[in-house]
Amino acid sequence: MQVITSYGVGRVLNSGHPGYKKGDLVWGTTGCEEYSLITEPETLFKIPDTDVPLSYYLGVLGMPGLTAYVGFYDFCAPKKGENVFISSAFGAVGQLVGQLAKLMRCYVVGSAGSKEKVDLLKNKLGFDDAFNYKEEKNLGEALKRYFPEGIDIFFDNVGGKIIDAVLLNMRLHGRIALCGMVSQYPLDDPEGIKNLMCIIYQRLRVEGFVVFDCFHLFPKFWDFMLPYIREGKIACVEDIAEGLDSCPAALEGLFTGRNLGKKVIIVSQE
Ligand SMILES: NC(=O)c1ccc[n+]([C@@H]2O[C@H](COP(=O)([O-])OP(=O)(O)OC[C@H]3O[C@@H](n4cnc5c(N)ncnc54)[C@H](OP(=O)(O)O)[C@@H]3O)[C@@H](O)[C@H]2O)c1
Repeated sequence: MQVITSYGVGRVLNSGHPGYKKGDLVWGTTGCEEYSLITEPETLFKIPDTDVPLSYYLGVLGMPGLTAYVGFYDFCAPKKGENVFISSAFGAVGQLVGQLAKLMRCYVVGSAGSKEKVDLLKNKLGFDDAFNYKEEKNLGEALKRYFPEGIDIFFDNVGGKIIDAVLLNMRLHGRIALCGMVSQYPLDDPEGIKNLMCIIYQRLRVEGFVVFDCFHLFPKFWDFMLPYIREGKIACVEDIAEGLDSCPAALEGLFTGRNLGKKVIIVSQE
């Protein structure tokens, strides 16, 4: 039996490492457990500021936040006012991508799997529009409705059918950032994509990226993001559960869409 690894926030109780001392607040790769023995301290980061909730270092200021930041700015190469579509837009990554795109005055539409998420995208996170992909019979037509002039940027967290639908709606010289494929992870036989010719006709750039290659950017990312959070210009919706016992259900919930924003489990109170 093995402890499930995850991202966690904790306080150093004892350290033989010169970079960490008792009492330091850290976040990084930990076990889903009350006490972790960290054998690879390079996977930890000291928490530089404590005037924001510590859980933010698991979401908007942590790995998902950096994913949104590098994915959007570096891989989507956005320009002011462009048309942006985000799949799984109410997930930890998607909700930040949308808000970053709004800061650039883009027109932003997200897809999500429930009415509640769609309402929150529009009314809390400032998306221009959003739709429930589960209620759309034809995703391509739905996208035409929201983007009559086409999509410049597609930030994909889902993969599968949505990529085919988006390819039919991309504008000339559009960019597609492949961030995640949550719809494909549980499948033994992943779905194929038919409309790849659109990549040629529309001169698209399609690029996958992995955030671990960009961890050196954390200090720059925090300098950028913390002022927005402090000023309330970036919101972070968290779905908080209490107790280690809630871990299995929380994990399962990511694949059924039960989480409402970044899933956080409180193992012990500060
Ligand atoms: N490239 C990288 O370095 C990197 C880094 C971090 C994360 N990722 C990937 O980025 C994606 C987003 O991560 P996250 O942390 O934002 O996700 P998250 O908060 O864990 O959200 C997961 C959401 O995915 C949606 N979903 C699940 N199954 C689906 C399906 N079959 N079709 C459509 N939507 C489905 C559900 O929302 P609905 O209710 O909307 O269905 C669920 O709430 C994931 O695929 C993740 O693996 C990649």
